[in-house]
Amino acid sequence: MSNLMNTYNRLDVSFTHGDGVYLYDKKDNKYLDSLCGVAVTSIGHNHPQITSAIKKQATKLLHTSNIYGIKNQKKLAKKLCELSGLDKVFFGNSGTEAVEAAIKLVRLKAYDEKIKNPQIIVMDNSFHGRTMGALSATGNDKIKEGFAPLLEGFMRVPFDDIKAIKKQLKNNKNIVAIMVEPVQGEGGIQIPADDYLNNLRQICDENNLLLILDEVQTGMGRCGSWFCYQQYDIQPDILILAKALGNGVPIGAIVTNKKTSRFFSPGKHGSTFGGNPLATYVARAVIKTIEEDNILAKVKVICSMFKDKLSKKIAPLKAVKEIRIKGLMIGIEIKTDKKEKLNSIVKDAIIEHKLLINLTHTNVIRLLPPFLLNESHIDEIIKILIKLIKKL
Ligand SMILES: Cc1ncc(COP(=O)(O)O)c(C=O)c1O
Repeated sequence: MSNLMNTYNRLDVSFTHGDGVYLYDKKDNKYLDSLCGVAVTSIGHNHPQITSAIKKQATKLLHTSNIYGIKNQKKLAKKLCELSGLDKVFFGNSGTEAVEAAIKLVRLKAYDEKIKNPQIIVMDNSFHGRTMGALSATGNDKIKEGFAPLLEGFMRVPFDDIKAIKKQLKNNKNIVAIMVEPVQGEGGIQIPADDYLNNLRQICDENNLLLILDEVQTGMGRCGSWFCYQQYDIQPDILILAKALGNGVPIGAIVTNKKTSRFFSPGKHGSTFGGNPLATYVARAVIKTIEEDNILAKVKVICSMFKDKLSKKIAPLKAVKEIRIKGLMIGIEIKTDKKEKLNSIVKDAIIEHKLLINLTHTNVIRLLPPFLLNESHIDEIIKILIKLIKKL
């Protein structure tokens, strides 16, 4: 019997070490990690540059406080602003905390504009985290069940539905922001229409709303550009980052433009650990590695290779309904009548075939593979998937 609280259905597998795209258990069995701890270890396990950055900073300084200046934090903020085209950064320790910071910033904007009952438009099927604010923003009633009263101030509309947003705006003067994932991750790798983000930007501009992009899953190269929105030639007012920013060392951030950041002033928000010398040094090393090894270009190549092989070999399988792929976010939707067996198939992938994948949105096999894959890894993944999906 474990002393851990019952918050996860854990599999009977655990790992002792990792190396690149592989994880190893205590018997030295090798697992191809095609999930990256859910979009976290994007540049692989035990990456030499990241390991050496952790060691180097650990021998110098782990923590001081945000009461003092933190050089690594300043440098990382500068880099994130250069990469995103935005101006100011607040650091936390996770995605959900970054979402909270975004919500607080929106509330302060509304307060400044004397809007007493501010509303943020959020999407059906979205996921923004587990703390009360982020949970309230999340568009999934199942994971919200039992936690009432939730935070007020969120209006839900269908994802990828511009008309629904326009309709809400006609009837409500209290809407102050729109928050959206550029690709819904937990929601089953849902990719909106090509003009969706551009339309959202335009609506926000025309109605004095903040556009908040939750790129916790899509960001840091996962979609083939630093941030997914860069493929649409727009900018958000608030960008939310976490997961792969530290490649496994916990860190989250919001990056905003000046007109939005001005609502924070000393005392309005804070974090003991946020932006600590260790996490920010490691995140700098992550960015440097991605830049120096030209990894974003590689993601694009791997993505098109994957796309090609998936459409030739997996799409024709009878049980497959649809394949959705954006960069290295891959969802294989299985026909609903096959749902029952799906869980055991995914378990087999992990336990029997030593391939780490997961199921999301009940019938979507999700792959979030590392950026270091080569063609033979892709072939190995496809071979296992064919074997398993054919059993459905
Ligand atoms: C889009 C998105 N936002 C926020 C979160 C919450 O991040 P964290 O688990 O680091 O709190 C997640 C986690 O899966 C996510 O996918």
